[in-house]
Amino acid sequence: MTLNGITIMEKPDWISFDDIHELLYLAHAENREKRGFHVQTTEMTGEELEAHLGSTGKCYVAMDGKKLVGTASYRIVERNYWCVKGLVADRILVAVHPDYQGKHIVSLLGNAVEKSVLEKGLHYIESITAETNKPMRIACQKDGFRNIDFRVPTSDHYNVVMLKWLDGCPYPRWRTYAHFAFNRLRKKLKFKPGRIKRFGK
Ligand SMILES: CC(C)(COP(=O)(O)OP(=O)(O)OC[C@H]1O[C@@H](n2cnc3c(N)ncnc32)[C@H](O)[C@@H]1OP(=O)(O)O)[C@@H](O)C(=O)NCCC(=O)NCCS
Repeated sequence: MTLNGITIMEKPDWISFDDIHELLYLAHAENREKRGFHVQTTEMTGEELEAHLGSTGKCYVAMDGKKLVGTASYRIVERNYWCVKGLVADRILVAVHPDYQGKHIVSLLGNAVEKSVLEKGLHYIESITAETNKPMRIACQKDGFRNIDFRVPTSDHYNVVMLKWLDGCPYPRWRTYAHFAFNRLRKKLKFKPGRIKRFGK
């Protein structure tokens, strides 16, 4: 698919996972330097990224001619959320080259992921991102994801779990929001980033 000169396709063999690593690391510069959080997958080598995707994984790329300008992948995982139990497509390794951010390329990549997930007969896509990653959270909300859960930090940041129901969310907005907000409050009171310890212990 090509839109505004950007072509979205499944990663061809001539683009390596080392190239994907380079793009991830570059795209996350603002997150590291301005927003102050580090994402573990940006430190993985190409080989490790490929292993992380596993046999169920698929990787998509956005190209401006021969230039790699964006990427998004998914892998299939088993989840046990309060609202969804079973197989879920976990959208991971999402990045847009800094010179191309703000042009909604992430939505084009998201559409390609969504189409593939539907073809596999799955109905849910999750996206997990740092609480302070505003561009990603805005993009996900505009693409129909809802905040459903809040994760205790495993390193220097809290994570927000977002989910998209491909056949329509059965819960009213207030219900998913209430669950999310309650969990955020509870977990923020108990845990803080970088320590993974309960306050006072
Ligand atoms: C998050 C990311 C994938 C979004 O891709 P994108 O194609 O630029 O997304 P959009 O163009 O839809 O932008 C989403 C919102 O964030 C804003 N935005 C985009 N890039 C931004 C930036 N560098 N700084 C501040 N805001 C930014 C946009 O203005 C937009 O808001 P708006 O629609 O109200 O104007 C991209 O910014 C990126 O690669 N970030 C670094 C890697 C990352 O955080 N990946 C996600 C890990 S879970």
